[in-house]
Order: sequence, then structure tokens, then C-alpha cells
Amino acid sequence: MSATLEQPASSAPSSDPTSVIVETRNLGKIYRDFWGRKKVNALKSLDLEVRRGEIFGLLGPNGSGKSTTIKLMLGLLFPTSGRVFVFGKEATDVSKNERIGYLPEESYLYKFLNAEETLDFYGRLFDMPASVRRERTEQLIQMVGLQRARRRQLKEYSKGMTRRIGLAQALINEPEFLVLDEPTTGLDPIGTREMKDLILKLREEGKTILLCSHQLADVQDVCDRVAILHQGELKELGRVDSLLKVQDTTEIHASGLSEAAKQQIKQIIESQGGSLKKMDNPTTTMEELFLDIVRESDQRPGRRGSGT
Ligand SMILES: Nc1ncnc2c1ncn2[C@@H]1O[C@H](COP(=O)(O)OP(=O)(O)O)[C@@H](O)[C@H]1O
Ligand SMILES: [Mg+2]
Repeated sequence: MSATLEQPASSAPSSDPTSVIVETRNLGKIYRDFWGRKKVNALKSLDLEVRRGEIFGLLGPNGSGKSTTIKLMLGLLFPTSGRVFVFGKEATDVSKNERIGYLPEESYLYKFLNAEETLDFYGRLFDMPASVRRERTEQLIQMVGLQRARRRQLKEYSKGMTRRIGLAQALINEPEFLVLDEPTTGLDPIGTREMKDLILKLREEGKTILLCSHQLADVQDVCDRVAILHQGELKELGRVDSLLKVQDTTEIHASGLSEAAKQQIKQIIESQGGSLKKMDNPTTTMEELFLDIVRESDQRPGRRGSGT
């Protein structure tokens, strides 16, 4: 194949590997067909850093180059141009892999093993002694909530359970850096919420997480910083809170106000040269509403009176 590997002069990462987990520099990938002809320009000169302790999101529609970026970081693909450093080492250096956990887009777990056997199997691959494997398996099964399904073969698992055992498997070696490719695909709202809570908990434990998703809500709810990709190009990069902040608008939430008080507030805003855009009761999201209903139904089973 005729892939060209451009080698920039410097072979060291430009940032401090104690605070920067991943650094990509001018990273590009062109997929070629069997005859070496250019087929898809999947990633174009990407520059980004994933910093220690953060949840970094790669957001983009299907086909925008998210999985390609992840595979380049893991050394599963060779770049056509540019470089990737993980823990300050070239992505192709496999010694870094024992510090990384990876949940692929599709899990490749053995369908005839149960949850305990699966985790034990991966523990063996990392040369963990039997007692450590047992303890770690127990911990992870609890963590991902598969206690009741621990002895069932994975072929009987629902999509949500498969995602959970995939996450447990990615965590078996207590990685510092976790790479999650579309962690919530196929999950229902409860499964999605639980997966997001797990991801947040892992950050609290000090892990660095890179997740990619085409689900806007996932990224908004859990990520500290986000890169938005479209057709292989980086379109936006920044902190989620500042990207989403609507400048020049002030939001006030108050309870117990009378109509007269609201009128007064409106007058104050106008007297200060501002304009009142909206004064209303806030609405919840469909996700919150749904989760409230399910929680209540768990506590008090039975049919609920029809709404208005
Ligand atoms: N092995 C491959 N061979 C050829 N083209 C590929 C291959 N893998 C991905 N692509 C193409 O590269 C582009 C980016 O794909 P991918 O990184 O999987 O996107 P995403 O994960 O954002 O959905 C798409 O156009 C896809 O069809
Ligand atoms: Mg993908």
C-alpha cells in the first residue's frame, strides 16, 4: 500500500505528559482501497489534547471520524499524516496499553461465557493472580449492576447489559485512561443515565476519560471539554459550559413571587435599559420526567391516574 507517513522533525510530545494524557498533532487518516487508491479522507489534521482527570468528548455525526481518531490513539491504525502521543509515548508503543481501558463501538466478548468468566478471562490476559481477579471481578460486577445476571451467558444479555459488561471488561486492569466509543448506543433512558453516572463516578476516582458519541445529550451532561468533528475536520473545541453559555442573557430562578412582584421586576429591568425576554415557569426535560415516573413506579407499583 502507498500510505505516506510524514515524520515531523520533533519526535517528542510538545506538552507535559504528566498533565496531558493524549496529544494529537496534525493527525490525519486516509483510508485506501485494496489497490492503494484513496478512498475516504476520514480525518484531517487534527490537533487536540486530552488532559489528566477530565472527561473529553468527541462529538460528531456518523462518519465524522470519531472512531478513526480513537483507533489512531490506541495504535490500532497508522496515521497517514501527523502523530499521536499517549502518556508521552507514540501511539504505536504497545507498552502504554496496560494503562488504557477501551470499550469498542461493538463489543467482541465471548458469547458463551458468563459475566464472571468474562472478567476472569480478561484478568488472566493481564496476568492478574487468582485472588486479585476474584476481588476485582466482584467489585466490577457490583459497580456496573450485573449482580443478578453474573452467571448468565452473554448471548442472553440485552444491549444495555452487553454495554455494562463491556465497560467492566475495559476496567479490569484498573486503567488510568478510559476510551469509550459510543458508550450509550442502544441503551434506554435509564440505562443511558446509569452509564453517564458511572462515567462521572470514574472521573471522581481520578480517571481520565475520552468518550465519543453522536448523542448530544451525553456530551452535554458528562463532558468537561468537547471537540466537535464534521467530515473529519475539527469544527469547535472548548469547555462545554462556555460553548453552551448564552452570552448577554441573565437567568434568574425565583419562587414565591406574586404577580405584582413580577410586574415590579419587569419595570426594574426596563428602567435599567434591559429588555425582558421571558418570564415563565421552567419546564423539565423529557428525560427527567421519564426518570421521575419510573422511580415513582418502582416505589409505588400500580397504575397512575391519567394526567391532564
Ligand atoms: N476501514 C475503513 N475503510 C474505509 N473507510 C472507512 C473505514 N473505517 C471508516 N471508514 C470511513 O471513514 C469515515 C469516518 O469513519 P468513523 O471514524 O468510523 O466515523 P464515526 O466514528 O464518527 O462514525 C467514514 O466515512 C467511514 O465510512
Ligand atoms: Mg464510530
